[in-house]
Formats: sequence, C-alpha cells, structure tokens
Amino acid sequence: MPQQQNAVRLPLTLALADRYLELTSPERESKFHYIWLRDNCWCEECRVAQSAERRIYTADIPPDIAPAEAHLDHDAATIHLRWNDGHSSSFSVWWLAANDYSNGAEEPSPKVTLWTSDLGSPPRFEHGAVVGRPDVQLAYLDAMREYGAAIVTRTPSVDGEVARFAEVVGHVRETAFERVHNVRHDPQGYNVAHTPLELKPHTDLPSYHWPPSIQLLHFLVNESTGGESTLVDGWSVLADLRRDNPDAFDILCRVPVTFQLFSEDEDTRATAPLVQLDTSGRVQTLRFSNQLALPLHAPFEDVGEFYDAYQLLGKMIDSDYYKIVFKCNTGDLLTVHSHRVLHGRKAFDPVSGARHLQDVYMEWDDLMDRHNVLSGTHKPTPSTGVDLA
Ligand SMILES: [Fe+2]
Ligand SMILES: [Zn+2]
Repeated sequence: MPQQQNAVRLPLTLALADRYLELTSPERESKFHYIWLRDNCWCEECRVAQSAERRIYTADIPPDIAPAEAHLDHDAATIHLRWNDGHSSSFSVWWLAANDYSNGAEEPSPKVTLWTSDLGSPPRFEHGAVVGRPDVQLAYLDAMREYGAAIVTRTPSVDGEVARFAEVVGHVRETAFERVHNVRHDPQGYNVAHTPLELKPHTDLPSYHWPPSIQLLHFLVNESTGGESTLVDGWSVLADLRRDNPDAFDILCRVPVTFQLFSEDEDTRATAPLVQLDTSGRVQTLRFSNQLALPLHAPFEDVGEFYDAYQLLGKMIDSDYYKIVFKCNTGDLLTVHSHRVLHGRKAFDPVSGARHLQDVYMEWDDLMDRHNVLSGTHKPTPSTGVDLA
C-alpha cells in the first residue's frame, strides 16, 4: 500500500510504495521505480557534469534500493530523496513529467508525411544556402526527415563534390565498392546502372544487413533525352499494403531474402526479411532490389504466399500511383533516405547527350546528429532540472 510520507501543498502529492514512488497531480498519477530513479541520479558523483555520461554502474545499485527519506519541495518543484544506501538525489518534477514512463511517455516522433505521386517532386534547396546558412540547412534536414527525399540544386559540377557535401551534413558511409561511384553509360560497367536501360525503383546495397541509409546522387551533367528520375515512398506503399492486405505485409516481414552484390574483388551478401520493423512495430527498413535477389530459400509452404506478396509489393512500387517522375538537371544533388525511399530512372538515349552522376552513401544517424545540433536539442536535460554547463 502506498504510504503518505509528506504533507505537501496541492496540486502535487508524493507517496512511497514498495518498489516505486507515486507522484499525484490533479491531472495524473505517475509512478517511478526506485531503481530507475537511483540510476538517473544526476549529482556529480553519479554523472560527468559536462558530458552527462553515467559514472554510477547500474549493476552495483542494491536491489533493495529505496528512499529512507523523501521530501517534496513544492516551491522549487523538486523531490529530494535520501536513499537507504546513504546517497542523496534530487529530481525536478518537470523532468519527471517529461520522462513519465508510467503514462506511456516516449520520445516525441518527428513529423513524417507519407506521399504518393501527388508530391510531384521532392522539396528543393539551393546548395550554397544549405552549405552556408544554418537555417536553410536545418530546413533541408527537416525536409529529409519529413519526406525522406530532397534535391540540393546548383551544386557545382565538380568531381567529388557529392562527397564534400556529405561531409558538410554528416559523413560518407564507405562500402566494399568505390567511395564515390560514377554512373554513366559504360558497356564494360559492372552493373545495370551503367546501361541506358530503365531501372525500376530499388534500394541500393540490400546485400548489407545494414544497407546505407542515405544515398546522394549528384548530376554533374544531365543532357541526354530520357533518364528521368523516379522515387517511391516505400513507407507509404507499406502503410497501404499493411492496411489492405495484412497477411501479405506479415509474410514480407517474416521471410528472409538473400541479396548479393559482387565484383571481381568483392562479394557482399545479406539475408533478412524485406521489411523490418522497430520495437514499436513501425516500418524501419525496406530492402527492395529486384535485380540483386538470389533464389529464395524459404520453407516450402511459405514460397507461394511470399511470391503473391512480393509481386503485389513490386506492382505497387512500380505503379504510377506511388511513383514520382521528374528530370534532375545538371547540378541537382538528389538525396534520399534509402531505408524508406526507393530510387530509379527511366531509360535514356546515350547518344543524345551526356549523362554523368556520382553517388555516395551516408548514414541517417549522422544526418540526424546534424539536425539535433542545429536545432539545439543535443544536450540532455539533467534530472535535477539544472541545465548542463
Ligand atoms: Fe541505385
Ligand atoms: Zn547521485
């Protein structure tokens, strides 16, 4: 039974139960385990002041940790606890409210707008402004987070510029293949990108268990006829598939598919379901590359059902309803969240004009690192409520 420890002025009351503390306001009742509170002490003994790194080793907290004394200072909106191991901690009630896991508090999800062909074209930002102005760079990063795609226009048509841009907003993710990959018509080229043929929407390097999560495609020159770029919001396709055909969605989340990409010197392979969910059940990663899938080795009874779902997904991905089609101009740097957005191109006529692009990969986490720093949200709020130095 909770036990009333301190008579405090409304609207807050504090009570201690066996293994947790209860903080009650007129709006809600919040509960915090003692082990959780002790683990989140932010005194100088328990944390490194500048970096917020934990000094206290969680496994060393006694399992019977509990407050010997508890006091709610209403004026300071702070709870003071003296623990039965002799340590003292203070917690801001505002910090507790923001971290109230007993009422389902979780990280606020950033705005994501799922799109279809109605989008027309990804949002556009001018290269000089993205590189030189923090507010425009933040707007570009917001657009990447919301739509999973953006075009950086008027990028200098200079060899390797795409890698320099990647280093402005994050870091290049290296793979087994070239750091900066050239895509142009090349009869000796090692993959279908070097032909003038249509490329159906796909994600690159599904032959990695963690494929690169950002792809940058810089059009140094694009003067050929045809070769329009295509993009598809894979998360939008999957949301509709999940709603209309949940069994098909489920088998795509369940049956592992192997992809391979190799060259004379390299061989990359990964086996995993096409669709991977996060711990909240949201789609996290779509791996889709018709050209790189190896023969399916799935239980016999799954194969028919898998192909039904896979063909349905492939038809949705290649349909005019989901696909945006637009021409990238010389100087356009197309950037996509490649765990979400599939890219492709229409066939082009290689004798009608030059078409040369360079692409590099990056990681989403690095892009969001940049976003957090530019938006000033990278320093955590200590549980004491006193800001970090
Ligand atoms: Fe590609
Ligand atoms: Zn402490």
